[in-house]
Amino acid sequence: MIKNKLKDSIKTERTDNSNLNEFTRQLQEQIFNQLKKQYSDIVLDYWQHPRNYKSLKNPDGYAKEKGSCGDSMEMFIRMKKDIIVECSFLTDGCGTTIACGSTATEMAKGKSFTEALALISAQEIIKHLQGLPEADTHCAYLAAETLRRALADYLHQKKAPWKKHYRRP
Ligand code: FES
Repeated sequence: MIKNKLKDSIKTERTDNSNLNEFTRQLQEQIFNQLKKQYSDIVLDYWQHPRNYKSLKNPDGYAKEKGSCGDSMEMFIRMKKDIIVECSFLTDGCGTTIACGSTATEMAKGKSFTEALALISAQEIIKHLQGLPEADTHCAYLAAETLRRALADYLHQKKAPWKKHYRRP
């Protein structure tokens, strides 16, 4: 008797779980379809598969900036003879911020210090992402500004290399 009750309850639980899984799947699909109406495929791709999303140990350039919405972004740069050989970021921001950070770091890699400073702007990030809704353009400004500050930090460190060991990270 108890054994049967237990079997029934496991069965009910399994049915509940599969209903919940199906509900979750449908909800995710609905959300994704809504997002597809607002964002390009490239934004959604970077959003789901962030590029260069990591910190770098002892970076040659580093910056942490806060956006107008309160979200922040950190950027890390590794240089070799004034060429950006590695560029990565971290953020506590939304998916669009992740897409913008991914774009900025992808664009920066392989560029010289001067090229990166001159060519990577919020407008270029937005263009690369095939547009962003007006409400999200500040995410691109945050990524561009963080990169600019990390480059400025690199310049600063070059003049006073010993300072690198006394700053975060
Ligand atoms: Fe805050 Fe994108 S930076 S929403």
